[in-house]
Amino acid sequence: MCGIIGLTKKTGDSVKDVLKGLAMLEYRGYDSVGIAVITDNRRLVVRKGAGDLANVRKRLGLDELRGRTAIGHTRWATHGPPTDSNAHPHTDCRDEIALVHNGVIRNYASLRDYLEKEHRLLSETDTELIAHIIEDGLRHGKSLLESMVEALKKLEGSYALAILYKNEPKRIYFAKMKSPLILGMFDGGSAIASDIPALLDITRKFIMLNDGEFGYIEPDEVSIYRFGSEGSFYKIDAEALKNRIKLIEWSPELASKGGYPHFMIKEIYEQPQALSDTYNGLAEDPSLKKVAEVFTSSKRIIVVGAGTSYHAGLIFTYFMSKLTKKMAIPLISSEFKVLESAINDGDIVLAISQSGETFDTLEAVRTFKRKGAKIITLTNVVGSALDRESDMTLYIRAGPEIGVAATKTYTSQVLALELLVIEVGRGLGLLSKENYKRLSEILSRADSYIQESIEISDPLAKYIAKLMNNYKGSLYVLGRGLGHYIAKEAALKIKEISYLHAEAYPAGESKHGPIALVEKDFPVFIIATNDSPEIVGNAIEMAAREANVWILKPSDTELDIPDNERIRTIDLNSINKNDVLEPFIFIPFFQLLSYYISVAKGYNPDKPRNLAKTVTVE
Ligand code: G6P
Repeated sequence: MCGIIGLTKKTGDSVKDVLKGLAMLEYRGYDSVGIAVITDNRRLVVRKGAGDLANVRKRLGLDELRGRTAIGHTRWATHGPPTDSNAHPHTDCRDEIALVHNGVIRNYASLRDYLEKEHRLLSETDTELIAHIIEDGLRHGKSLLESMVEALKKLEGSYALAILYKNEPKRIYFAKMKSPLILGMFDGGSAIASDIPALLDITRKFIMLNDGEFGYIEPDEVSIYRFGSEGSFYKIDAEALKNRIKLIEWSPELASKGGYPHFMIKEIYEQPQALSDTYNGLAEDPSLKKVAEVFTSSKRIIVVGAGTSYHAGLIFTYFMSKLTKKMAIPLISSEFKVLESAINDGDIVLAISQSGETFDTLEAVRTFKRKGAKIITLTNVVGSALDRESDMTLYIRAGPEIGVAATKTYTSQVLALELLVIEVGRGLGLLSKENYKRLSEILSRADSYIQESIEISDPLAKYIAKLMNNYKGSLYVLGRGLGHYIAKEAALKIKEISYLHAEAYPAGESKHGPIALVEKDFPVFIIATNDSPEIVGNAIEMAAREANVWILKPSDTELDIPDNERIRTIDLNSINKNDVLEPFIFIPFFQLLSYYISVAKGYNPDKPRNLAKTVTVE
């Protein structure tokens, strides 16, 4: 995530609109801010720095700038910590181009290798590289448009770009691939932004860009291009563009949530984007390989985390055992004392934390570090306390999560951890080249699997939430193996958002206690992962006690489910028995179920009572 905005006007000033828009975009990131303006005397001025908008605005005097064409950016760090030099916009060596970017360039490392030789690189970002690739085109006599096209051909990953070029002071160039970008039209000008709210004060007329589109805006012109065959490109004709103009009538409140009534549902729906960015960010990240090497040669791995992050850690331990034959020990952060005496300098600690600031996780890490363990962190926040205190860090790229309940950060953590597992498997020689490639390719499509699962789950979750509207008792979420670990996250979501007592239990263990509570109409959800066909037996046991049983399963898993009016089956997507995809296809149902129960009961799913997003106390 990151927010980008740009305006070009026939007369007047665009800077104040850019600043206003950035305030609306801050929910997308707030660790550094910058703007670039072409002044009326044709100077390209860039001001940027670390800090949130209010801070940078004051410190760098952004309000003093004036110009008809301006772009702005509010950042959520992915490549490089939030520093002044990593803030956007980024420029080329000759300061002719200023560029802002939202997204993650996957082939960052190889691009940097070749650019470093001939260019003066001032930041650690993937974004700056794009400015220098375009510069190469200009140096070879190409137009800005042609140079941008050449650059786009070299980029792998996701991007929404807005670019100023000193020699074309009325234009803002843009390009979109897998990161959101829209165009807005108004009297005397045109605009570009990451989302609609940023421009609602200026216009209600929008064109939503599609992946693969690029072009430029001028005050009275919008030109959109697409790639044709063999690298050629063509302009979309004016008539077709007219048909794509949409009038948006949103209230400002609705607009800040991108049209969704709550951040939680918005973030559930953002999971495909979060997974795609996380995959793109890690797939060629040299740090992933370095961390995998550490794990490959390690004796013991201890995985610490709290809440949802702990649940992601459980999934990591499952796949480590299955695919790498390595034992990873899961530990709830606040329980670190349980293992404290046994930790020594051969140990590796993997700390998982969305915020990177959770007190208990930091305490565990500090204690284990003192005992000589090496600390590896997986977090969503570059520059967070855990990031700073760790020996090595991997980042997910879920963007800021505003709803208190973790949703997109959980699935992004799971994806990152699975990528790490297969890297370790390859390092140990336990995954053949073909198997590694196959798994990596499957994980590269986690975004489309979760998209499909959200689409399938939404109406079902809505329907079951309705059935449970007056229910105040307990419920179980049962699973075996991987299914049990997913169930733990499912039950947590229901507990924290719907305020229903939901307990996750290993299905096989349910006979040793939980089944005593089951009576007529007691709700039981069963997560039937591929590793556990025997779970049908547990469903039958529950139904025999008159429970209402829902079995969730991938549609291609064949289970021998008896005809029983107390057992219903929910078919999710088909995953061809690829269990690495199971967390992504099961969890959306429970995120949505907890959300819809909460809304039906009149609670606020974004701010569940007694809970905080980041727990910085013991
Ligand atoms: C709080 C949040 C949870 C989160 C947990 C751990 O309890 O409400 O959503 O899973 O903290 O947070 P972390 O930032 O360390 O992942």
